[in-house]
Amino acid sequence: MNSWSADSWRCKSLLQLPQYPDQVKLRRVEEELASMPPLVFAGEVNELRNRLADATRGQAFLLQGGDCAESFREFSADNIRDTFKVMMQMAVVLTFGAACPVIKVGRLAGQFAKPRTADTEIIDGVELPVYRGDIVNGIEFASASRMPDPRRMLQAYNQAAATLNLLRAFAQGGLASLEQVHAWNLDFISSSSQSDLYRNLAGRIDEALEFIQACGIFAEHSATIRETAFYTSHEALLLPYEQALTRRDSLSGNWYDCSAHMLWVGDRTRQLDGGHVEFVRGVKNPIGLKAGPTVTADELIRLIDRINPTNLPGKLNIIVRMGADRVEEYLPRLLQAVKREGRHVLWSCDPMHGNTYQAANGYKTREVAKILQEVERFFAVHSAEGTYAGGVHFEMTGQNVTECVGGSNAVTEAHLGNRYHTHCDPRLNADQALELAFLIAETLKKCRKLRVSPCPV
Ligand code: PEP
Ligand code: CO
Repeated sequence: MNSWSADSWRCKSLLQLPQYPDQVKLRRVEEELASMPPLVFAGEVNELRNRLADATRGQAFLLQGGDCAESFREFSADNIRDTFKVMMQMAVVLTFGAACPVIKVGRLAGQFAKPRTADTEIIDGVELPVYRGDIVNGIEFASASRMPDPRRMLQAYNQAAATLNLLRAFAQGGLASLEQVHAWNLDFISSSSQSDLYRNLAGRIDEALEFIQACGIFAEHSATIRETAFYTSHEALLLPYEQALTRRDSLSGNWYDCSAHMLWVGDRTRQLDGGHVEFVRGVKNPIGLKAGPTVTADELIRLIDRINPTNLPGKLNIIVRMGADRVEEYLPRLLQAVKREGRHVLWSCDPMHGNTYQAANGYKTREVAKILQEVERFFAVHSAEGTYAGGVHFEMTGQNVTECVGGSNAVTEAHLGNRYHTHCDPRLNADQALELAFLIAETLKKCRKLRVSPCPV
């Protein structure tokens, strides 16, 4: 294998990168970013990798979630707080269902760049570059806004820094307290039309908390109950930004992409010899790899070996996004090949990206029932193959948006226009996300009863 450097991706074939009109301006921004402080630190990244190794062994569960695309316009403390809150609420429910620690990883503080199907968009005969996320260009259909501008990377960096600062404060400052989060869940249940379904599970969490308190353990005395670890992740798509934030750890000499704790490679940029796979293979961060219906078992093994040649548990998370109607057909042979070859990977389920469709009124949407169906089928396939379904990956927000249809407060296609705010794919709103967590917790509980341990690592 050729040697790796933070810029070796530049010699590979490159998909989904913007064409910057001014290369001098681009280089100046890259230099400026390279002189900025790192957003995350090697120690935190290693800690996440170790926790993901636990999940690979079947001893923890990964909850990854957040915006499809963060935007400059929707940036506010309230929005960050609300997404954090829902993630915490989901995590408590899933912890109870899985009876193991839930690792929380946000699609936050850097999830700006988006892969697109076409390079340009035509409206009323006018052709302009497609919108690629706020870190690249503006969403407004006008030639000035659609022109890729490297200075947007600096704004994204600053927004990521401020977001991370707030997330660290929330995680350590009381907002993640187990008692507090459970109280929010009880509020949710009292206002939900499906409350009976959830009350039972919440009642058992209540009893468990009372038991803990009866033993003399209260949030104010126990960091375990009061605080949490919250990690960040985004798609490693805009490689000039990722390279500029990649630093060599002075203690170990290893390279880390300090833009987030975890990075993933998208389904459109996972070519074995492409620049994106080249970039992630050299950094110590845990890496996600999206696996859609076109990936073959052979290709997957090669990708695994390229990204994780030492077969280190916790390094690689395969994020399966087949679609509810395809997962039963395509997933078994991937699981079989990985098991046969003895590769250590964490399997998680992204039930969003294979279930997107366009409603009759033109809105891109997803059905909550289909999302749940893909998760349930994903778990069933793992049970049948004797492998561990180790995580879920959602596009969601803490806001009361109307972007996905279904849920007990029944968002219909006719409601989509009411509060459709996403800059890219449709997200679950807070109620829909939490309902799914309750339903998935039931599935987790059933799987626990049948639990087969994954191959020993
Ligand atoms: C995403 O996660 O927003 C995304 C674009 O996913 P995928 O690469 O799986 O299509
Ligand atoms: Co998306």
